[in-house]
Order: sequence, then structure tokens, then C-alpha cells
Amino acid sequence: MWLALYGAIILAYHQFNCWYILFVIKNAIILAGGKGTRLKPFTNAINKALLNVAGKAVIDYPIQTLKDLGVTNLTVTLGGDHFNQIINYLEDGSRYGLKINYVFQGEPQGIAHAINLCSNFVDDKFAVILGDNFFEKPVLFDNNSNCQIVLNKCENLNRFGVANIENNKISSIVEKPDIVNDNSYAVSGLYLFDQNFFKYFKLLKKSNRNEYEIVDIINQYKNDNLLSYKIYEGLWSDAGTLESLNKLNALLLKW
Ligand code: G1P
Repeated sequence: MWLALYGAIILAYHQFNCWYILFVIKNAIILAGGKGTRLKPFTNAINKALLNVAGKAVIDYPIQTLKDLGVTNLTVTLGGDHFNQIINYLEDGSRYGLKINYVFQGEPQGIAHAINLCSNFVDDKFAVILGDNFFEKPVLFDNNSNCQIVLNKCENLNRFGVANIENNKISSIVEKPDIVNDNSYAVSGLYLFDQNFFKYFKLLKKSNRNEYEIVDIINQYKNDNLLSYKIYEGLWSDAGTLESLNKLNALLLKW
């Protein structure tokens, strides 16, 4: 047992280039149920999660981010026309050292809705990542958080959920706001939640774009003083548009 612990600490040092007490998250959800409308015509034939970015499928990158967190049980939410391609690609997860469950979302009704469908597969604290999110470096969560979001200073903030920070605290979180300022950060698609998520979901109403918004869940954690954040300094990108997919591909091929 001591040998295993020693091994884990050495591994942490090796991966993160500094000393960390490992907080291992075993359960996670990856959301891959979108229709990929912004990536047509390619997504007429291929699931968005399987498009090629620098020799890997889009979904391989967020899976690596979860593996870096210590995840061993992964639930994949599916939807859209080509959901079976994801099952064919990931299979039972053993190629990744993971145990995979699949949950069918059907018609997409938002990120919070997809997570709620997975309640039977996650206990205690769990990570959630969007199937098109790329993080250049491993991300670690703080083990005393009920809900933690990962913020990034990037271009085109209005495309994302945006958190505003005042005096080191999140003052507001808004989905795709018109106005941003120097204290605004994009809310990336990697989250830590506890079981309060499912209690908060019951109170949720659909937004103007007819979705159960993840920021509405996060705002409930914030109102109950259960929200924390970390600022991620490395490269973060989604691969949800042709522009972002091509940019990421070009960058990774150069590295
Ligand atoms: C979604 C979330 C948004 C988040 C973004 C990250 O946006 O709603 O809060 O910042 O993912 O990729 P969408 O991709 O649905 O526009």
C-alpha cells in the first residue's frame, strides 16, 4: 500500500512538475450528445467527437484530461445522428484503461439535462467535461470544493459562459453575455460537482434558447456559497466550430 502511495506521488510529480497531494476523482461524465451543427457538412457523415485533430479524435483529448484527474469510471452521453460511431470507437473503454457506461440523451436539451440523466452512474464528487474541450495541461481540482469551475482568459469571451471576478470572488456568471470586461473569464467545459447537482437540477427552468443551462446550476452553488474556481493558465479551446477546430489542429501539429 505504501509502495502504491509512493508511486502515485512520484507520478504526480512527473506529470505536473511540482508536488501535489493527489485528489483522485474516480467518476466522470463526458458529454458527446451534440449534433455538431456548427461543423456541417462534415457532421452529416461523422460524429463531431470523432473528427480528426492532429492525428487523434476530438474526444481523445478530454478523455486524457479526465484520466489525468484519476478517473476510472466514465459515463458517455450520446445523441444525434451518428451516436453509434462513438460506441464503435470507444467500445468498453479498456483501450483507455476505463470502464465506460453509455447514456442516451435523445434530443439535446442542454448540458445540465445531459448530466442529470447520469445520476445513477456517479456518486460523491464527480467531474464533467464537454466532449470537444481541449486542455493543453492536466487540471487538478481542490478536494474541499463542492463545485469547482475552471476559468480561462481567452478571445471571443461572448461565445462562452462568463464569470466575473471581484476581490478574488466570483461576482456573477452569465451565459454568452453581451458585455465583458477585464475581470471576465470564460467558464471552460470542465467542472467538479457533488450530489447537490441533482437537487439543484429539480429547480431548473429552461432558458431562452430552450436549454437547461449549466450556468444556472453553477449559480445555485454560488448562492449557497458552495462554489470555487481556479484559473487555468494554459491553452484551452473548444473544437465546436470549423475555425476553432482548424486553429487547434494547426497549433498541435506545430508543437
Ligand atoms: C457551453 C456552455 C458554456 C461554456 C462552453 C465551453 O457552451 O454553455 O457555459 O463556456 O460550453 O465550451 P456551448 O458550447 O453550448 O455554446
